[in-house]
Formats: sequence, structure tokens, C-alpha cells
Amino acid sequence: MNSHDFSYLANVLHRRTGIILAEKKTHMIETRLMPVVRRFGFRDIASLLKELHYGHEALVQAVIESMTTNDSAFFRDRKTFEEFRDIVLPVLKLARSETKQLRIWCAACAAGQEPYSIAMVLDDAKLIDAGWTITLIATDINSQMVARAQDGIYSQFEVQRGLPIRRLVSNFQQEGTSWRISDHLRRMVSFRTFNLLDSYGWLPDCDVVFCRNALMYFDLKTRASVLDRIGEILAPDGALLVGPAESTDGYALGYVPADSAPGLFYKSKPAPVRRLSLVK
Ligand SMILES: C[S@@+](CC[C@H](N)C(=O)[O-])C[C@H]1O[C@@H](n2cnc3c(N)ncnc32)[C@H](O)[C@@H]1O
Repeated sequence: MNSHDFSYLANVLHRRTGIILAEKKTHMIETRLMPVVRRFGFRDIASLLKELHYGHEALVQAVIESMTTNDSAFFRDRKTFEEFRDIVLPVLKLARSETKQLRIWCAACAAGQEPYSIAMVLDDAKLIDAGWTITLIATDINSQMVARAQDGIYSQFEVQRGLPIRRLVSNFQQEGTSWRISDHLRRMVSFRTFNLLDSYGWLPDCDVVFCRNALMYFDLKTRASVLDRIGEILAPDGALLVGPAESTDGYALGYVPADSAPGLFYKSKPAPVRRLSLVK
């Protein structure tokens, strides 16, 4: 891929998704584009990129999806889920004890391991049995990932990453060499394809937002804009959980970090203005 083609692709991707492409990753980019070249019947990457100029939406979406990094795992960054269980949930249980309603958004859910991990924590807390209404929305820009998440079927390798054996046995059914998430957990999550750069108008006000390991692919301005908009739909006492690598540099106003809980931030209202940091 020549540098002109790289710049064009990087530009389209940044404009449409906020993701920054590094030129030193040209080899990886080409490897990811080749299945799209084959699927749409192009001769090579150069002809694909030429066609991209015409903005054919299915092609643009396929290129975008090929460029996203969808790596995930059940209970990835275990501490985050402990913070959610031990710090965030107890406070919200008290604060919402009258309405018994909890709304949670997992904003870059990849193939579903993260929202299903959240669902397992909620299931342990037996909130639904106690009459609570839980809304758990999970979104990702990559429609293929969202479809996978909806299916809830994982390979042996995927369930071995981060899932304790007791959870595997109690929350999944084995199907050949794969594992299917149990129906009651699947029913807890509503999945939808959604670009974090688009309007958040359809989302309800949320008590908790998980936005982990996606912001680090964005430039600073996009990170700040996404965080600002998350802040607009987050309840005044709501919590934001970002990835641990996303909490040491870069800036967004309007959140306060929780004491000794890396990656956990609260929305402050009125704001004692502190800075939330994000780093690549
Ligand atoms: C590395 S995965 C992280 C998955 C999960 N949150 C975790 O921490 O394990 C990053 C996800 O962000 C998604 N993503 C990237 N840009 C996005 C955008 N503009 N809008 C929504 N999702 C996006 C990708 O498709 C990918 O699935």
C-alpha cells in the first residue's frame, strides 16, 4: 500500500469512526483488508480503495469492520468487575431502592464477553429475583461482532480466557467444541450496532457505562467528545468504567476518579472539575 492509499484509508477511518491508523502497521492493515478485497471481488487493495471514493455504504462498512480490533475476554481486567460488584452496585442498590431500576450500557462490546460478564455479576447479585428491572444495552460499531455476541457462542479458547471453571459449567452449555451462553444471561442483554460517533439520542439515561479498551484507538479530541456525550446520558450519580490503560493521560472534563479504583469514574454534578485521563 503506497502512502497516498494509506492516507486516504486513514482519513476515511478517522472521519467515520475516530480510529487512528498507524502507518507502521501497513502490513497488518493489508492483511485485514484482503478478505474484503476477495468478498467484493476486487483485483487488489488499490482497486478497493479507488472504489471506496464512491462511498458505497456496504463497502465502507466492510472496510471499517475489517479495521476494528475486537480482542476481548470474559472478566477482562478482573479488577474492573470487582469494582463494579463491590463499589458501584452497592451504592446504586441503595440509591435506586425505590424505583428498583438499573440501566447499564456497554459501549464497545466486541463479541459479547464484556456484557455477558456484567450480566453474570448482576445475576450473582440476584437483583432480578428481588424484583429489579435491569436494562443492559451492549453496542459495537462492528455488526459482525454484534451478531456473534447475539449468538453467544464461544470457542474453547475464548472461554478459557478469564472464565472460572465454575462459571463455565453453570452459565454455558457445551455444543461440540463450542460453548453457548445460557438463555437467561442472553436474554438480559439487548445488542445493537452503534457507532460512538453517532447520536446518543436513542439511549436511555444510564446508571453505569462501560466504555473500555475502545477510546484508546481514538485521537484525543474524539475521546473527549465521546466522554462528554457519555456524560450527557449518565445519571448524576452514575459511574463510568474505562480500561486501566485508558486512565493515565489525555483529558475529559466532568468526571471524578474514584479513590483507589483504577478505571472507575463518577460523573460530578455540579462538577468539582477534575480531569479524566486516557492514554494509548
Ligand atoms: C479491543 S475491543 C474492546 C472490547 C471490550 N470493551 C473489552 O474491553 O474487552 C474495542 C471495540 O471497540 C469497537 N469500536 C471501535 N471504534 C468504535 C466506534 N467508533 N464506535 C463503536 N465501537 C467502536 C471495536 O469494534 C471493538 O469491538
